[in-house]
Amino acid sequence: MLIKSLLLAALAGVSVAAVDEGRLAVVKADFNAAGLIGDEFQSEDFNNLQGLLWVKFDNQDEPLSLGQRLSKDAVQEKPEFRYLPSENATLDGQYTLALIDADYNGADQSEGQTRHFLENNISVGGDGDDSDDSDSDNGVAIHDGDSGKVITSYTGPGPARGSGPHRYQFLLLKQPQDFQAPDGLDSQTPLGKMNIADYIDSTNSKIVAATYFICEVGDSTVSAKPTSTVNTASVSATPSSVVAGSGGNSDNDNENDNDDNDDNDDNTSAQNTDPDSSSTRAVLSTGLLALVGLAVVLA
Ligand SMILES: *[C@@H]1O[C@H](CO)[C@@H](O)[C@H](O)[C@H]1NC(C)=O
Ligand SMILES: *[C@@H]1O[C@H](CO)[C@@H](O)[C@H](O)[C@H]1NC(C)=O
Ligand SMILES: *[C@@H]1O[C@H](CO)[C@@H](O)[C@H](O)[C@H]1NC(C)=O
Repeated sequence: MLIKSLLLAALAGVSVAAVDEGRLAVVKADFNAAGLIGDEFQSEDFNNLQGLLWVKFDNQDEPLSLGQRLSKDAVQEKPEFRYLPSENATLDGQYTLALIDADYNGADQSEGQTRHFLENNISVGGDGDDSDDSDSDNGVAIHDGDSGKVITSYTGPGPARGSGPHRYQFLLLKQPQDFQAPDGLDSQTPLGKMNIADYIDSTNSKIVAATYFICEVGDSTVSAKPTSTVNTASVSATPSSVVAGSGGNSDNDNENDNDDNDDNDDNTSAQNTDPDSSSTRAVLSTGLLALVGLAVVLA
């Protein structure tokens, strides 16, 4: 126990900012747990993640954490976006940024989803005009607004009263070099329905970073499936994410797992993608793996 604690403490001191495969796997696992992979997206759509999408609403003290529940009032103004690339990410080319409402978990997706924001031709990272670009803990700037072409201006969520916990996704898509905006979404277009998976397919774009929040108004009159439980079986291919996703299994991660034991359907807090705390989870999981290794050696 003492050795384990010391080991975890030592590990917690290193590499807080690295965006590794474990953290990307957590994003995919949480999209899966929220039912966003299945009806809306296929699993393969999340095989090209290259980093984390950092989103901060001005009225919030902390950046958005994956699956966080936010009030309608909190999300009316367009937030600030940054990109935390993994070691293998390339920042060249142009990007699309979108905010998409996939309704509650279990809602019929056959009519598509609701587009609240769509901007094409965005550049990412340093072009010298953003001093924050050198802040490695906070990733690089996403130059939405200035460099890109806005199709749908940011329109704050307004879920109908009683219509359940809506899942609003921010998606950062990498455009191909020969990107062409599809007809109907190639010039200023107000909020409306679209099929985001078809959009991604037909434009040959790739989801490189993603996050989501939950917004609900009034008491739900729909029977939504929960969005909070990361199914450990679904991420078992990636050891670090099993630990990150299942949280409460370790008796040593109590500093970070207040939001983990959520059998409560109303509570949709999932994994935290705030750079510091999820890397702490990754570090914890690395520590546990190292410990398992140690135990094997000692046995
Ligand atoms: C980056 O690529 C290397 C070599 O293919 C791989 O081992 C590593 O896991 C990759 N990292 C991420 C975050 O995908
Ligand atoms: C967006 O980028 C594409 C591909 O790079 C280009 O063909 C198109 O003209 C750009 N659109 C605008 C409005 O700049
Ligand atoms: C979520 O859980 C927290 C802590 O258990 C509780 O205070 C809060 O009221 C819950 N929120 C909802 C929407 O149930």
